[in-house]
Amino acid sequence: MHLHPTGQFNNDARPYRHFTVRPLAAAMGAEIVGVDLRTVQDAAFGELQDALYHHKMIYVRDQMLTHSDQEAFSQRWGQFAEDAYTSGIAGHPNVHPLIKEADDPSTMVFGSGWHTDSPFLPKPPSLTILYAVEVPPWGGDTIWANSALAYASLSDTYRKILSKLQVHFSLRDVLRSAQSAVKPSDSPIGKLAATRALHDLPEHLQRKIEGSVHPLVRVHPVTGERALYVDDTYAVGIAGMTLEESAPLLKFITEHLTQPAFTCRLRWAAGTLAMWDNRLCVHQAFNDYAGHRRELYRTTMAGEVPQSIA
Ligand code: SIN
Repeated sequence: MHLHPTGQFNNDARPYRHFTVRPLAAAMGAEIVGVDLRTVQDAAFGELQDALYHHKMIYVRDQMLTHSDQEAFSQRWGQFAEDAYTSGIAGHPNVHPLIKEADDPSTMVFGSGWHTDSPFLPKPPSLTILYAVEVPPWGGDTIWANSALAYASLSDTYRKILSKLQVHFSLRDVLRSAQSAVKPSDSPIGKLAATRALHDLPEHLQRKIEGSVHPLVRVHPVTGERALYVDDTYAVGIAGMTLEESAPLLKFITEHLTQPAFTCRLRWAAGTLAMWDNRLCVHQAFNDYAGHRRELYRTTMAGEVPQSIA
């Protein structure tokens, strides 16, 4: 048994019949070896689901996927999610390009800052699927933190306090940062950067700034696992608290959640597909590859209204 040092999680591979698993770190993450995602049969797919919920993030190397293949694989997991603020490519409205050009001087990239995807929506996406086409020679990694392990590592007393709290999530702070740190362009984050005043924003973005309130401790709809549902990017307050009251609490929880012991980090290569469960982990992209191009394609799957413990 290779238990995480906290004793709260075991990221060991389970014995599957259709592929092998190589755990990435003690806290979470695993490589799936021996599958072609274009031809996964139902039995293998069931094992992939189990591996995803167990390891929180799984990835597969050396895939040769067209946009249609990525769409078809994504649809095995359910309906596509509502677009948060990116848009799809011609002919594939649910496949969203994440491209940073080599000469883009922005000091912020899409996915900067620890976050769970689009929690400002009433029904945030359940899963995110990201496929790499071109990656820089170094840098451009993605890092994840296991929010179920972070929850399990808290004291009973603190968990009891958190169990009643609701987090207010909003796009507000990302919009402000994009306006100052990103070069306006046609890219998703470049479009945010190009907006200059709240009244310039289309109605769908105004709704995302107003945001949504969700339970801080979330119960996974399939496995029943409990996890912290909070982040450092979109969580702007706690319902019913003043800013002065909620800020130190959010600071403690997000620092606890994103400590290195709870993380894993992926070095991308062209042909790598990674997917993660936004209900069980948070993640962050690095902007450390200036002078190099990075091209990935993202799909997100529809989620449910987050459920609290009670
Ligand atoms: C994201 O936050 O979904 C993007 C992650 C990445 O580009 O590494």
